[in-house]
Amino acid sequence: MIIFKKQTDIRVYLKRLEAIGIGFVPTMGALHEGHLSLIRQAKKENDLVIVSIFINPTQFNNSEDYTKYPIKVESDIKMLTEAKVDILFMPSKEEIYPEEKDLNNDNFDFGTLEQVLEGKMRKNHFKGVAQIVSILLNTVEPHKLYLGQKDYQQYLIIKMLIQQLNKKVTIVLCPIVREAKGLAMSSRNVRLSPKAHLEANNIFKALTYLEEHKSEKLEEVSRKAKEIITQSNIADLEYFEVVDKNTLSPLLSIEKGNTLACIAVKIDGVRLIDNILL
Ligand code: PAF
Repeated sequence: MIIFKKQTDIRVYLKRLEAIGIGFVPTMGALHEGHLSLIRQAKKENDLVIVSIFINPTQFNNSEDYTKYPIKVESDIKMLTEAKVDILFMPSKEEIYPEEKDLNNDNFDFGTLEQVLEGKMRKNHFKGVAQIVSILLNTVEPHKLYLGQKDYQQYLIIKMLIQQLNKKVTIVLCPIVREAKGLAMSSRNVRLSPKAHLEANNIFKALTYLEEHKSEKLEEVSRKAKEIITQSNIADLEYFEVVDKNTLSPLLSIEKGNTLACIAVKIDGVRLIDNILL
């Protein structure tokens, strides 16, 4: 695996290669089985697989979340080498945002899509995501971009970004990878205490309850599903919404094949998100 830290170096390297299929997996590191599933999919479908690791400061609205974001460079590199990734792009903050003014992400606009759910709870989060993803896409110029369904709203935003930028890149949305008891894999899971980890399993229980009762009255089923989470005294539910999977606007009943149920909850101070397509 070749590691690049400078944009110009990776660009020059990629330019020298003849037309080959490039698959790209952007990450913020602290890699887990969820990332590996994206990498495996990318390996199957491309000649060359590039992974990036960059903890992007402009997408964190909470400075504590940023400073506490897990960093595991050594084990990440080991994992990527074992997964036979071809290139790792691992720039510094200064490489991506050399000047203070470069941190400004005001010129991205995704309308209502960035104002609901995660966008409502984390102001300017998606502008920051769009900012770094556009920089990375310009650097790597991939043919396929691999994203996980756990960050479903991020997928919709990046889809819109790609249209806005007029880029010819295909997004491959990969299913959520879960632990044995259903908790969605996340880099933040390492911050959960054993008790919090146990209670975090209720997130998937609630989503499964909704799935199993999807033909019943939504209001009632949602109330019961929410209770599965809020029964824990260390869980602070931010939202539990049932929305249209394309526009993210709230639905009054489940429309088969068109519905997304999504949750954000802080368990013992650790913010977790999850969703299910119904
Ligand atoms: O999903 C993530 O890890 C990040 O939001 C991404 C897409 C790598 C941008 O920083």
